Amino acid sequence: MTSAKFWDKRARKYAASKIADLSAYEYTRERTRSYLRATDTVLEMGCGSGSTALELATDAGLIIGTDVSSEMVKIAAEKAQAGGVKNASFRVAAVSDALNAPEPVDVVLGFNIFHLVRNREEIYADIYRKLPVGGAFISKTPCLSEPSIGLKRFAFAAMIPLMRMLGIAPYVARFSFAEHEGAIRFAGFDLIEVGSFPEMNRYIVARKR
Ligand SMILES: C[S@@+](CC[C@H](N)C(=O)[O-])C[C@H]1O[C@@H](n2cnc3c(N)ncnc32)[C@H](O)[C@@H]1O
Repeated sequence: MTSAKFWDKRARKYAASKIADLSAYEYTRERTRSYLRATDTVLEMGCGSGSTALELATDAGLIIGTDVSSEMVKIAAEKAQAGGVKNASFRVAAVSDALNAPEPVDVVLGFNIFHLVRNREEIYADIYRKLPVGGAFISKTPCLSEPSIGLKRFAFAAMIPLMRMLGIAPYVARFSFAEHEGAIRFAGFDLIEVGSFPEMNRYIVARKR
């Protein structure tokens, strides 16, 4: 099953689901907001049903949410219309195509998405090329083979292939904090803020040198 079909089938349920750790979510959302300027064009990759993009839109010039799932994009556009948010737009695009957007972009966001792509190192390099010097790349990513999460990492290693065989999980890459941060640095970024919110979800603010 393609990623698009996988997420299309789950979009309405995902959009209705509760955030697992609200205080961690709110903390990283507000940290992210603090890096935005009122003139910024912000591109969010894997925006899902658009909640974060719509919440951050108050502090950006324009926010463009992209997602491989047309159902997710439809829900996000419905929410923008219902909330009267005029400076957010949503498009169907895989992570690998999202950067082909014609408009210049000041900030790139990606929350809970980079463990779901097979070529994240190439994507980080593309993000680096797209951003201006000083531009921010802000992400939060589950690092499922991070040693500090203890035995859970072995559970993920065992369960994910099984869940994929049963068709109840998409492709999921497993990597540690060090591998993840190394890949973002390797693309050329400086890491200016790093933390775990919660536990294995690595929040990283990176800046183009
Ligand atoms: C776990 S959800 C995260 C959604 C949102 N960013 C959040 O934090 O709630 C992953 C999202 O990534 C999208 N996605 C998965 N693979 C993708 C890809 N290759 N390109 C773009 N979006 C993708 C899915 O459709 C889904 O909306």
